[in-house]
Amino acid sequence: MSRSADFYARATAVTPGGVHSPVRAFRRVGGTPLFIRSAQGSRIEDVDDRWYTDFCMAFGPMILGHTHPAVLDAVTGAAAGGWSFGTAEPYSLALSELICSRVPWVENLRFVNSGTEAVMSALRLARAATGRSLILKFDGCYHGHADAMLIRAGSGLAGVADSAGVPAGVAADTVVAQLDDIPGLEGLFAARGPELAAAIIEPLPANHGLLPQRQEFLDALAWQCQQHGTLLIYDEVITGFRTAFGGMAEITGIRPDLVTYGKIIGGGFPVGAYAGRRDLMQLVAPAGPVYQAGTLSANPVAMAAGLATLERLADGTAYLALEDNGRLLDSLLQDIPGLRLQRVGSLFWLVLDDEDSGETIRSPARFPAGSEAPFARIFHALLAAGIYLPPSPYEVGFLSTAHSEDDIRALAAALQIAMAG
Ligand SMILES: Cc1ncc(COP(=O)(O)O)c(C=O)c1O
Repeated sequence: MSRSADFYARATAVTPGGVHSPVRAFRRVGGTPLFIRSAQGSRIEDVDDRWYTDFCMAFGPMILGHTHPAVLDAVTGAAAGGWSFGTAEPYSLALSELICSRVPWVENLRFVNSGTEAVMSALRLARAATGRSLILKFDGCYHGHADAMLIRAGSGLAGVADSAGVPAGVAADTVVAQLDDIPGLEGLFAARGPELAAAIIEPLPANHGLLPQRQEFLDALAWQCQQHGTLLIYDEVITGFRTAFGGMAEITGIRPDLVTYGKIIGGGFPVGAYAGRRDLMQLVAPAGPVYQAGTLSANPVAMAAGLATLERLADGTAYLALEDNGRLLDSLLQDIPGLRLQRVGSLFWLVLDDEDSGETIRSPARFPAGSEAPFARIFHALLAAGIYLPPSPYEVGFLSTAHSEDDIRALAAALQIAMAG
């Protein structure tokens, strides 16, 4: 028995499903999850002394690769000075000022401890600001595990409409629209627009495959929001500081009223943030009446990790290098029958589809049926070849600045062999 298998058996005795977040359990690919004990650059090492080239990258935060020396220095330096004060401190100030100075629609921001918390807080703020209760979300978009967002959420919930334990009254305050469907959106706003406090969207949905949205669709959403006094929330927990420093708002030129961040903003430490228009953010306590707080919020070590990470992304050159590696992956995977790549920058989704029409998939309704079993086979073939993909056909892969051309070529070569097998 491998040590991972042994650890997993022990973990299932003390933890639901043996893991602390569902997708880690390999339920969608079968087998035993790897227990990872260390990581360096583009590679991770399991407790059985095997190294893998990592294309999961902790589901997104590690855009500079694992154990980046500058982030490590910042973290150890900060920790040496103490790691939790429960007071105002200079670390979050530096990170806030960096973001506010570079991202024009972020006039104010508040740090929290996760993407879930950021979304939950942004929704409360939107409801307070508008005096309305209803929230619009999109089928297949995941916004963390706050009750109101566990409705048609994708990722670990793919195929499941709701989580158990969400009160019907809470679910009733969330309405769901389809991605890539402008008439549907217009109909929904015509019927319920005046009741909608906020529309929340992943502007590049990346939790149920990677589903690039047409600019016209995002424009239509922004316009409908404006017409109906509904606040537009861009959930950039994955895309913020990844598709560009200013995320998808920068790429689309659409200014959301509020934006939520997570993952990269904490450099791999537990950090989220909600942010946006000053007049809205000034409603948050203690400046205003919308309560939100956190004992460990703006933890100095996490803030130092976020700052060291964002400082290395702020001039934009990292995104050019990431795009180069992405294009290399495109070109190497071009002619593999039954496999295609949907990619935006450093985010990629491997689509296993024998009847590939060549059309970009933009909504869960278009997800090719029956791709789970083939994905499980490919996943394990790659694992045997020393390559770690996110363990689900619905999750996207992540490139980091630590991935070399050789890493990309190794991924393509392993996929070629696995698809032929
Ligand atoms: C778009 C989006 N929003 C929110 C979240 C929730 O973030 P967290 O897992 O940090 O709570 C995620 C997590 O994957 C996400 O992808």
